[in-house]
Amino acid sequence: MTITEILPSLGHLLHERFDGACWPSTASADEHGDLIVGGLGLTGLAARYGTPCLVLDEAQVRARVREFRAALPDAELAYAGKALLCKGLVRWLAEEGASFDVCSAGELHLVRAAGVDGSRILVHDNGKTKEDLKAAVHCPGARIVLDSFEELDTLEGIAGPGQQVLVRVTPDVDAHTHRSIATGVRGAKFGFDLRAGEAAEAVDRVLRSPNLELLGLHCHIGSQVSGVDSYEAAVRFMVGLLADIRERFGVCLPVLDIGGGFRVRYTEEEPEFDLTGFADRVRIALHYECDRFQLPAPRLILEPGRSIVARAGVTVYRVLAVKGSTVIVDGGMSDNPRPALYGARYRMRLLGRRSSAATVPLTVAGRHCESGDVLGEAVPLPADTRAGDLLAVACTGAYHVPLQSNYNLIGRPPLLAVRDGAARVLLRREGERDLMARDLG
Ligand SMILES: Cc1ncc(COP(=O)(O)O)c(C=O)c1O
Repeated sequence: MTITEILPSLGHLLHERFDGACWPSTASADEHGDLIVGGLGLTGLAARYGTPCLVLDEAQVRARVREFRAALPDAELAYAGKALLCKGLVRWLAEEGASFDVCSAGELHLVRAAGVDGSRILVHDNGKTKEDLKAAVHCPGARIVLDSFEELDTLEGIAGPGQQVLVRVTPDVDAHTHRSIATGVRGAKFGFDLRAGEAAEAVDRVLRSPNLELLGLHCHIGSQVSGVDSYEAAVRFMVGLLADIRERFGVCLPVLDIGGGFRVRYTEEEPEFDLTGFADRVRIALHYECDRFQLPAPRLILEPGRSIVARAGVTVYRVLAVKGSTVIVDGGMSDNPRPALYGARYRMRLLGRRSSAATVPLTVAGRHCESGDVLGEAVPLPADTRAGDLLAVACTGAYHVPLQSNYNLIGRPPLLAVRDGAARVLLRREGERDLMARDLG
């Protein structure tokens, strides 16, 4: 007999503390099998807002920004908006001192609409359109990260005096990550190639351009990078390049942006990213290399996206049907295409009731007309999982909302912020009118 069975009135005081690996750090389980996040039960949120729904723990997001800022206090922390972007989130991050990496005119407008000053915005993307570049030059103070000669041509035609830019280079550091998210190797579609001499040519052109001011260099070695040694290698390499630029062009660039990509644990088996070790090794490598080349140390910029928001998110689905060992839920690849895109794996749990059935490996499939619409294979769940049950999926805060679609004309789920026992809708559920709005007949 458990202590809660002996003393049922104490049950609510004895919430199981979660292994913090994949769930938000405010999460705990109660005696009814509910998950409490940000002081609210997920079953109650599912009843109030419907399923699927995505819940975002504000405290977890803020805490993560503070951890990064404490690890490298002199660095600028530019949150990568591609991971998740909405006005409420932008305001939390801005309050915590973050700036923002945006990837399109749309992302730029959203961040501006949330009240962010242009001087806290970096404009990225490997294929910026003229409209993206125009939006960037019309945003006073915004810095543009150049990715190609074509972009440079366009920018020279539209930029006013003093337009600050960084040049993105491909450092040829293998970050040992999934092919679709490795960006720092030669032949990747990102940045200027060093060996082909493109990076030096880009630097030369920017330095000679009357309206452009070269602030520094940028690189991003990939996403889900666990090895701090890859970042250390990138820093060493990039400082060498800064020294080279000083040698050839006589300028000391004041900024070095080393991108994002810090690993997140989606399941307990995956390694944790060593943020302190990363900060130490990057700081030491930066100062060592700068001393070696007698260069003033540039200010670092970091661009974490996933590692700020992933763990703050939990998605709640309702089970629609069970066919043999396949559980079909009321969402799927339209709200989470990551398993289909990258083979992503997640931690899931039954929500809202305690089951005494054995734990068995089940397939969790989505509702869409694709056999690849599978959210998880061999997911350990109770053998009596049945229609009507709720399932919680951990670590769904990053690259879910931005990658969502309306496949099968299904409205995208809401994004709910939770904090200290209160919930707020950040993004509402899409309804039929939203889905019909673009169809002009
Ligand atoms: C230039 C750049 N910066 C930052 C990021 C953010 O990466 P992550 O969300 O893995 O931290 C990306 C992701 O693709 C990127 O391309």
